[in-house]
Amino acid sequence: MNAPLNPTPPASPLPQHFARHVFFCTNQREGGKTCCAEHPAEAAAAHCKERVKALGIHGAEKVRVNKAGCLGRCSAGPVAVVYPEGVWYSYVDLADIDEIVECHLLRGEVVERLLVPPRMAE
Ligand code: FES
Repeated sequence: MNAPLNPTPPASPLPQHFARHVFFCTNQREGGKTCCAEHPAEAAAAHCKERVKALGIHGAEKVRVNKAGCLGRCSAGPVAVVYPEGVWYSYVDLADIDEIVECHLLRGEVVERLLVPPRMAE
């Protein structure tokens, strides 16, 4: 039997080390399956980290950018997710990454046009 899942877990009462934490899937799936590595995911993660550093918002109590393995939303790829909000983005180019950095990571404004549809998964 499955336990019911609270769809909107409460924010953690604990102090957070990073104000925002971004994960870029850079996973390569085997067998020719759709994956984020088919896109410039590595370059996007590197560019995001560069921009965050250039803006002086990188580090503890600020923003952390990490690469990740499969995040389970392959068909929407390439994907990145921003916590603590749990906002999922799909991007096309580095201009999209710039927009995510300047709007969401810097000002806390979600970039609606780049959102992954809620139920789009593998
Ligand atoms: S390969 Fe990127 S979400 Fe699965």
